[in-house]
Amino acid sequence: MPAAARIALLAHPAGHSVSPAMQRAAFAARGVGATYDAFDVPPAELAAAVAALRRDPWWGANVTVPHKTAVVPWMDELTPAARRLGAVNTIVRRGERLIGDNSDLPGFARALADVRPEIAGARVVVVGAGGAARAVVAALADAGARIALHNRSPERARALLAALALPEVAWLPAEGLADAVVGCDVLVQTTTVGMAGGPAGSPLPDGLLPDRGAVVDLVYRPAVTPLLAAALAAGLPAQNGLPMLVYQGARSFEAWTGVAAPVEAMGAAAEAALGGPGRGWSGLVADGDRPRVG
Ligand SMILES: NC(=O)c1ccc[n+]([C@@H]2O[C@H](COP(=O)([O-])OP(=O)(O)OC[C@H]3O[C@@H](n4cnc5c(N)ncnc54)[C@H](OP(=O)(O)O)[C@@H]3O)[C@@H](O)[C@H]2O)c1
Repeated sequence: MPAAARIALLAHPAGHSVSPAMQRAAFAARGVGATYDAFDVPPAELAAAVAALRRDPWWGANVTVPHKTAVVPWMDELTPAARRLGAVNTIVRRGERLIGDNSDLPGFARALADVRPEIAGARVVVVGAGGAARAVVAALADAGARIALHNRSPERARALLAALALPEVAWLPAEGLADAVVGCDVLVQTTTVGMAGGPAGSPLPDGLLPDRGAVVDLVYRPAVTPLLAAALAAGLPAQNGLPMLVYQGARSFEAWTGVAAPVEAMGAAAEAALGGPGRGWSGLVADGDRPRVG
C-alpha cells in the first residue's frame, strides 16, 4: 500500500460526522500511514468524486447521507451485504476497481451481541423502516430472530420487507404495538425521533417499554434519548447507537487496511467527538456498567 494514502467521507452536509475523529484515532493506534477527511459533496458532484477514488492516493471512502444508494451503480463489485441492502457505506479500491460494501449490517449485529448475545428465536420489535432499519432487519433475520416491524407509514415498511425479500417478518400495526413491545426480548428504535435536530420525543407511546427485554436506540446524538432514559429508569438493559457506529467503522477500517481495528480507541475517540466522556461507548445500563445480558 502506498504511503500517504487517503480515505474520504462523501457526505452532504459533512460537518457533523464523528467518523474522521474515529478513523484518525484508528490509524494512529495501528500506525497506519493514511489520512481521513470529510468532503461535502453535493449530488451533482458525486459521480466525479467517486471516479477520483479509482486512483492513488485513494484507498477508498465512507459514504453517508444522502449518497448511500446513489453510488451503487458506479461500483465494479458489491459485497453481499451491499447488494442486499441496495446501499453502500464503504468503498474499497482494489487496483482501479471499486468494491462497495455495507458495514452497517455487521456493525449492528456486533453491537446487538453486547446487549443480547443469543438472538436466535428472540422476539424483536423493530420500530422504523428507513435506511438504518434495512440493515437492522437484515441482521436480525440472518441471526434467526422473530421480527415484528412497525413504522408510522405502513407502505414504507412493506417496501422494506419486499426489498429484503422477507415475507416471514410480521408487520405490526399500531393496535398490536403495546402487547408486542411489552412481551419482546429486544426493542430496536431505528427512526430519527429523539435525534438531535430530528423530531422530538419518542416514537412509542409514553411509558411503553418491554417488561424485561433490552432497548436499543440507533440514535447516538444525544447519548440518552427519552426512550433510553425511560429504559434506564426501568432498569432495562439499554444501548444507544454508538456501539453500532463504532463497529461499522471498525469493519470499514479493516476493509481498507487489512489490519484488525482498535475498537477501544475508536470508541473513545467517537465518544470524545460527541462531547464525551459519557457512560462508556460500549453501552448504557441502569448502573452505568457494561450491558447486562438480556
Ligand atoms: N448508530 C448508527 O450507526 C446509525 C446508522 C445509521 C442510522 N442511524 C440513525 O438511525 C436513525 C434513522 O436513520 P435513517 O437513515 O434510517 O433515516 P430515514 O431513512 O430517513 O428513515 C427515517 C425513519 O424515521 C421515521 N420517522 C421520522 N419522523 C417520524 C415521526 N415524527 N414519528 C415516527 N416516525 C418517524 C420514518 O417513518 P416514515 O417512513 O413514516 O416517514 C422512518 O421510519 C437516525 O437517527 C440515524 O442517526 C444510526
